[in-house]
Amino acid sequence: MISEEDDIEVNGPLAEQLQVQDGEAQAADIDVAHINIHSVAVAEQLRQQDYHIASIDSKVVIRQLPSQGLSFQLWPAATTLVTLLDGHRSHPATSPLSALLSAQLGRPLRILELGSGTGLVGIAASAILGAHVTVTDLPHVLPNLRFNVEVNSSVLALHGGSVDVAALSWGDIEDMKVIRGECDLVLGSDVVYHDHLYDPLLQTLRFFLLGGEKRRMVFVMAHMRRWKKESTFFKRAKKHFDVDLIHADAPSNGARVGVQVYRFAAKRNKSAPSS
Ligand SMILES: C[S@@+](CC[C@H](N)C(=O)[O-])C[C@H]1O[C@@H](n2cnc3c(N)ncnc32)[C@H](O)[C@@H]1O
Repeated sequence: MISEEDDIEVNGPLAEQLQVQDGEAQAADIDVAHINIHSVAVAEQLRQQDYHIASIDSKVVIRQLPSQGLSFQLWPAATTLVTLLDGHRSHPATSPLSALLSAQLGRPLRILELGSGTGLVGIAASAILGAHVTVTDLPHVLPNLRFNVEVNSSVLALHGGSVDVAALSWGDIEDMKVIRGECDLVLGSDVVYHDHLYDPLLQTLRFFLLGGEKRRMVFVMAHMRRWKKESTFFKRAKKHFDVDLIHADAPSNGARVGVQVYRFAAKRNKSAPSS
C-alpha cells in the first residue's frame, strides 16, 4: 500500500513538467503529421534542436512539439543515456555499458527502445553503435517519431545504423508479439513516472527479458526520480529482475538527485515468478 509520504516530490522543479499530462490526454486526438506548419500558432511551438555526438563527430536533429504533451518533449534521462552511449564509443574500456555492448555478434546489434518519445535515444544509439533500433511508443506519438527518424536518415546511413518505428503500448500482448525476438538489448529513458503505468511496463519487460530463450537480454533504463512512490516500481521490478545501478549523474538545476541508470536482467540462479 502506498502511504501519503510516497507522493512527496523528490525533484520538485522537474516534477512540474509532468503537469503537461493534461495536454497529453488531448494529444491522443491530434494527428501530428497533419498539423498545418504554416499556422503561426503551431509554428511557434515547433522546436528542432541539434545534438552533437562527439564520438562520431555528427549531429542528430530532434523536433519537439511541447504543446502536444509530454511524449513530444525531450526528458532529462534521455540526454544522460545518449551521453553514456557516446562515452562508450569513445572510451569502451571505462564505460559502464561495456559489459553490455562488447559481445561480438557478427551482425549489427538489435535494440528495442520503449517509450521513445522524440526518439533521440534510439536514433543516437543507432548512429553511435551502427545498430538496428526499433523505436516504439503509443500510436499518437509515432508521426513525430517517424519525422525525427527521417530527418536523421543521412547520419544513420553514414554510420551503418537503421531505425524502425513501431507502436508498442506497454502490456499490449499483440504489439509485443509483433516485435518479439528481434532485439538483443532494451533501452528506456524516463519511462517510470505515473504509477498506473508501473505494471504495464513491468509486464512488457517480463515479456521481452524473461520470455522464450532470451533470458540473457537486459534492459538499460535511465531514470530521473521525482516521487517517493517510484520505489514501488523498483520493489515490484526486483521480484522478477536483478536491478543494478550502473551510473549516476550528479544532481543539477536544483534537483535533489541526478539521473540514474539501471540494468535490469533476469534473476541469476533463480526462476522468475510468473506474475
Ligand atoms: C516521460 S516521456 C519520456 C520520453 C523519452 N523516452 C525521453 O526520455 O525523452 C514517457 C514516454 O513513455 C510513453 N508512454 C506512456 N505510456 C505508455 C504506454 N502505456 N505504452 C507505451 N509508451 C508509453 C509516452 O508516450 C512518452 O513518450
